[in-house]
Amino acid sequence: MSRTRPSGGGPGTIFPRCGDSRFPPRARTVQKGGVNDPVRQLYSEQRYPALSHPVTDISRLAVAARVAGLQRPAMPSSCRVLEFGCASGHNLLPLAARYPKSEFTGIDYSDTAIRAARQAAYAAGLDNIRFEVADLEHWRPSHPCDYLIVHGVLSWVPDAVKARVMDLCGQVLSDSGVACISYNTLPGWSLRRDVVPLVRALAASPAAAGLGGSVGSVAAALAGMAGSATPHAYDLKAVCKSMARKGSEVLPFDDFAPVCDPLYFAQFADWACRRGLRYLGEARLQDNLPEGLDPACWERLAPLAADPVLFQQTIDLLSGRTHRNSLLCRQDAPLEEATTTAVVLHFAAGRGDAAWPEASGEPAVAKVFREVLSAVGNDVLPVRDLMEETAGRLGGGWDPTRHSQELAGWIFQAARIGAIELRSEALVIPRGSAGRPLLSALNRHFSRNGQPLVDPRHATCRFPAGHEQLLAAMDGSTPAEELEARAARDFPELDFPRWLAHLADRGLLIPEEGGVESFISD
Ligand SMILES: C[S@@+](CC[C@H](N)C(=O)[O-])C[C@H]1O[C@@H](n2cnc3c(N)ncnc32)[C@H](O)[C@@H]1O
Repeated sequence: MSRTRPSGGGPGTIFPRCGDSRFPPRARTVQKGGVNDPVRQLYSEQRYPALSHPVTDISRLAVAARVAGLQRPAMPSSCRVLEFGCASGHNLLPLAARYPKSEFTGIDYSDTAIRAARQAAYAAGLDNIRFEVADLEHWRPSHPCDYLIVHGVLSWVPDAVKARVMDLCGQVLSDSGVACISYNTLPGWSLRRDVVPLVRALAASPAAAGLGGSVGSVAAALAGMAGSATPHAYDLKAVCKSMARKGSEVLPFDDFAPVCDPLYFAQFADWACRRGLRYLGEARLQDNLPEGLDPACWERLAPLAADPVLFQQTIDLLSGRTHRNSLLCRQDAPLEEATTTAVVLHFAAGRGDAAWPEASGEPAVAKVFREVLSAVGNDVLPVRDLMEETAGRLGGGWDPTRHSQELAGWIFQAARIGAIELRSEALVIPRGSAGRPLLSALNRHFSRNGQPLVDPRHATCRFPAGHEQLLAAMDGSTPAEELEARAARDFPELDFPRWLAHLADRGLLIPEEGGVESFISD
């Protein structure tokens, strides 16, 4: 069975040594300063948008960690999850609803955000989640966790808090615990870092009023003006477009936050190493093989597996990536020498977002497997069941040993490019009736509070302003015709039947109260 390519400091590779000084940390300008801490000030004055992040879905984290060689990541259906900087809990709450036997804890120093999170937990009847108001700088863990989520924090807090967050990671992970930490990366982020002060100055200058007056509109205007005559103009356009896409709700907390420090991977790996932590790989399998890199380049880079930091830095340079969601485990965590592609037999698979791998080199069984997967629609089903169905379709043409190996290798490669989604357990998308539409209690609470919904794949679902009133009324008691009449009166532009079908497709309409939990099967 074929061996997996090294995804980082994973199995069989030497972990980055501590104190690697080839990529020196940059000097910082913002320090933590009590009541004058600009980060704290931002979160007390402005409300951070409620977001859920598919990359932090523990079902996917378990797969990514296992693929990277961690022997026994905890089962999402029975584990302890901690989130640092959880804001109003939009990320953690849907996971707590999906896994009622697991325990979830969210920490944030914003009491407004934590109040909102507690209200949502109460409204949804969740008794397996708690939220604490605490400054991470002084917080002490009381028990280990199996999954630690640190999303949107590390690059955006002063240095003292960065150090503390890394210290806590080193202290809080269970023996097979996994931390997922997001941060902006160098050198990909460097152009953006140079663009930010200029965009800020233009947005503040009366002389540049024609550019719109907000950082988002200035970025959009610059994207329009940049042209594409030179590589610089091309890159600048891309950076400004991406800034504008983030929108005015997110930009003050992201590119234009009081602290926004991109890191070299080497710096991150060094911090982790000093705390007894090991880099496993990226949380999204496809990020271990960044888009745009020619497959031939992997063959040429293969010898660099002996120097994982240089390997990762070279990938970051070649791909120009600006962001990572890196997984860490304890250095003494049980790792497999080298994982094989047979690991996929333990997971569930569904259709991913990316195109299928080149059909030319694929084994004949892969074609049948693709047909099986297409018939499954949006669901994610155990790989063994999908293989059995494939074998059934092939009849006498299925050679159990050869074909299951070939298919495992193909599924693994398809997952590495994002054409197949792998999860730790099956996910059957709920198919509620559109007769009397019903949203989960949590999503009804979100819509009553003007917050986006979260679908079963843990993705944020936004709808135009005002539509949340219609969503909040989807409590299973109001017939669709009545909602349609309301929609026709209040939102004449809305094609209600089509919208309802869209909600059903995304798995937002559940068959019955409590049905939101029932869509996972072990
Ligand atoms: C950018 S938001 C990220 C929220 C969420 N994790 C997400 O990714 O959507 C950062 C969060 O970290 C919190 N935070 C920042 N510094 C903190 C500290 N020292 N202690 C506790 N929370 C902190 C902020 O209040 C804010 O809610």
